[in-house]
Amino acid sequence: MDFFPQVGLSHGDLSSYEEINQKNSRPVIAVTMASSRQGSSVVRHLSQSGVFQIRAITRSPHSKRAKVLANLPNVEIVQGDLLEPESLKRVFSGVYGIFGNTTPTKGWILGRGSMVREYEIEQGRNLVDVVKQLADLGTLKHFVFSSVCKPKDPLKNEPAPGHFTSKWNIEEYILINGLKKLSTILRPVSYFENFDSDLPGVQISESIFPGVVRKDKVWQTIAVDDVGLWTRAVFEHPKRFLGESMNIAGEEMTGQEMAALWQKINSKGTPSVRYSMVPRKLMNFIEHDIALMASWIERAGYGADLKALQVLANDLDITMTPLSCWLKGKASANTKKRLSNIDLQRRFAP
Ligand SMILES: NC(=O)c1ccc[n+]([C@@H]2O[C@H](COP(=O)([O-])OP(=O)(O)OC[C@H]3O[C@@H](n4cnc5c(N)ncnc54)[C@H](OP(=O)(O)O)[C@@H]3O)[C@@H](O)[C@H]2O)c1
Repeated sequence: MDFFPQVGLSHGDLSSYEEINQKNSRPVIAVTMASSRQGSSVVRHLSQSGVFQIRAITRSPHSKRAKVLANLPNVEIVQGDLLEPESLKRVFSGVYGIFGNTTPTKGWILGRGSMVREYEIEQGRNLVDVVKQLADLGTLKHFVFSSVCKPKDPLKNEPAPGHFTSKWNIEEYILINGLKKLSTILRPVSYFENFDSDLPGVQISESIFPGVVRKDKVWQTIAVDDVGLWTRAVFEHPKRFLGESMNIAGEEMTGQEMAALWQKINSKGTPSVRYSMVPRKLMNFIEHDIALMASWIERAGYGADLKALQVLANDLDITMTPLSCWLKGKASANTKKRLSNIDLQRRFAP
């Protein structure tokens, strides 16, 4: 059951974050999993807001990704691990807000894949337990938890992927702990970035647009950067978003439509772009939970309300990333790569 109502679109309840936090000049927001794709986008957007001090949490403060974040204004890198509650108490000490994210990805094992529901639930429980302690102390004012989108058709929800149910179980744990009023739940759909992943056969190329869902099925997707965009909006407008939840997406297209869009954007007289679905049996072998997710998307579908999100985005004066824009970035990066390859060939030509 979804205890969190969807955010209302009524006008007049917009409140700036300063209204409820006048005493604090630059409130601190801790961002968990800061080096992840989602976490990095949140750190970047919060840094751009100029309003917050960001405590970016990672297990590896000296990694390349952490160093990139460390160069952003108002960002400090702090070592912490979602599997070590004591480290969470330390890194969350005195913070105004927390962006909480968890991961099911434990490392790939033949026959099991990499996604482990219990691994993610353990992180979520540790996270929420410390949030609860800080809420009881009265120091924490806003907890944003990034979950995953709920189904369009709840009646077709079963079986849901383990790395979805783990996040929805963590949402329930937030409620059971009486943290609803202090929390906002964001629920992103699949990232655009998945179309250019590390999985074998799942990279955009001149002639292929890859995916895991059937070519004729509508599939909601989002730029990972928009998770940061929405998170910043949520932290900047607490009165509007406290106690609320939001399914977030940027597009709703079939694989065929996405391939046609890529063809239009990347067209260089090359043959037509084909949408290529990773065979479900192969996906099932590589990562069972992603195969389950693909079947779930085809059957139940993500339930973000794109029209309502657009109205809300207009109201907040924020611009979501369309797939066309993300693909244009991809096309220009590919062109730069091609040109530098040509340059290298010239340089090393006999
Ligand atoms: N892919 C999608 O389309 C999609 C859509 C919606 C939601 N999601 C969900 O979003 C979440 C994040 O995914 P992502 O793709 O952004 O992540 P990602 O880029 O794969 O990064 C995962 C991060 O998790 C951190 N991490 C791993 N174990 C940790 C632990 N015990 N404690 C603290 N940090 C730990 C690692 O950071 P360090 O090594 O630096 O600590 C790593 O940067 C996942 O739950 C995923 O299911 C994904």
